Parts: sequence; structure tokens; C-alpha cells
Amino acid sequence: MASVKTVLFLGFCLSDWIVITAEQNFGPKVENVRWLSLDFKTILTWSVQKSNNTYQYNVFFAEDEDPEWVESEECSQVSDLECDLSNHLKPSDRTYTADIQTIPDTGSYDPDELPHTFSPPFNPYKDSNISAVHFTVEAVDETTVTVNIKDTLTSVHLGEKQLTIRDIFKKDLKYKISYYKSGSTGKRDILSDSSMAQVSGLDPGQSYCFMVAAYIPSRTKPLKQGAWSQQRCTEGYKNVLQELSVGAWVGGIFILLTVLILISTVTVLCYRRNKQRYETTQTSQASAPI
Ligand SMILES: *[C@@H]1O[C@H](CO)[C@@H](O)[C@H](O)[C@H]1NC(C)=O
Repeated sequence: MASVKTVLFLGFCLSDWIVITAEQNFGPKVENVRWLSLDFKTILTWSVQKSNNTYQYNVFFAEDEDPEWVESEECSQVSDLECDLSNHLKPSDRTYTADIQTIPDTGSYDPDELPHTFSPPFNPYKDSNISAVHFTVEAVDETTVTVNIKDTLTSVHLGEKQLTIRDIFKKDLKYKISYYKSGSTGKRDILSDSSMAQVSGLDPGQSYCFMVAAYIPSRTKPLKQGAWSQQRCTEGYKNVLQELSVGAWVGGIFILLTVLILISTVTVLCYRRNKQRYETTQTSQASAPI
């Protein structure tokens, strides 16, 4: 009975040992595989459990219905925990999956048996974040302005040309323009099909503030809207005090300070002189014979 136990125990130890050595030889699977994508610059990232060994990775990717896995040349035997796949992913509406292999640090291996991890699916057209846009606002007349939006450049090149988000999304790209009258809390949103929009019906003489974001209605909810731009305001009617520039204010304050210093200096000097004269008169009176 005892000998059976010993054999079992030895067996367990042996299998544990085999598992451990197997892991050491092959290295761990990568974890937390994520896509990070902004304006079609797309980076695949992953993590790996802490260990004393350093590993290298091979990255493969495949396009949806295509069963063929393509190895990324740039990310062949990399030791970083990321890989820039921008150049491989076409910006049209298709889904990609990546596969990350961990390469053992020593020995020969069968590539088909390497530990590997699939990424979640990723569609650049639907999932790449869109950064904040730049724009200008120009007054057309008292109640109308033109909002001129610059289509953001992406990381995608077509030959020599660097494509903008308009080149990629074409008619799918709208812009959301949000504006409010300076000093009021009510906001209004409008959607513009083109990169140049007219906003009319503004109150004459009032200052208005505008913000713009790329907007792609064909996407799913949280991904429809790009980042909000910075705010830009028009100049409304201004009274004299508001019209003074910062320079004028600084200059004015400087002159005021100089005048104040002059006045106080003169006052102190006059006071001293008068006091002296008074004292002299007092002394001369005191010493005068009665
Ligand atoms: C897009 O931005 C959101 C919010 O910052 C972030 O949570 C998400 O991971 C980003 N997606 C990609 C694909 O980079």
C-alpha cells in the first residue's frame, strides 16, 4: 500500500516537474492583448507575466474572412511588448485579428506548438479613435459665422500622399458643432456634412463660443464622436474697458504706479522741508531776546 502511495507521489512530482520545465522551455502566453489606435495609427500591445527570462515575440495578423495568417515583418522576433501594425491594416471597413507567439529563448522548437494568444478583433474604420480637430471661426455678418474645419491627417499614406480623415471616411464623416452665447448656459448642437459650415441666427453684437468634433454616424455609439476641439469664441460688442489690450492695461498700470511713487516722494520731501523750516523758526524764536 505504502509503495503504491510513493509511486503516485513520485508520479505527481514528475508531472509537475514536466509541466514546469515545459513552461520554462516554451515561455508563457502573452496576456492583455489590446489595440490602441488614434487617427489610424494602430498599435497592438500585450503584457507577460514577470519572469527572469526575456522572450521574443512574433506577430501575425489576418483579415476577416481570409484564413491566411500573415507575419508582420516589423514585428518578427521583437522583444518589445508592442507592435505598430498601422501599415498593414487597410483603413476600409474590415476586421482584423492578430496572433502573438512567444518564442522560447533557447533550443529548437516546432513553430506550430509555440504558446500564442489571439487579439480581440479590430476594425480600424470603426474602432480607431479620432483626435480633436482644428478650426477657425469667421464672421460673415452680424448674425452669421463660417466655421472652417481642418480635416485631421491620419497615419495612412497612399503613395506620397498622407490621407486625411475626409479621404478615408468620405461622406461618412460629419462634424458636430456645439456653440453657446457667451455668458449663457444653453448649448446648441448642429451637424455639418462638410468641413465648412455656416452657423446663422446668432444675436447681433454678442460673443459666441464654438467647439467641434468629428462625428461618424455609421459607427456604434461610444465610437461615433471624436475628441472635442478647443473652444474658440467670436468677439461680440465690447465696451471701452474690454477693448483695451493687455499691453494697454500693463502700460496704464505702469504709468499709474510711477505717478503714485512720484507723488509720495514729493510729499515726503515737502514734509521734511517744512518740518525743518518750522523747527528752525522755533529755535530762532526761542533764542530771540524778549
Ligand atoms: C479610444 O479612446 C478611449 C477613451 O480614451 C479608450 O478607452 C479606447 O481604448 C481607445 N480605443 C482605441 C482603439 O485606442
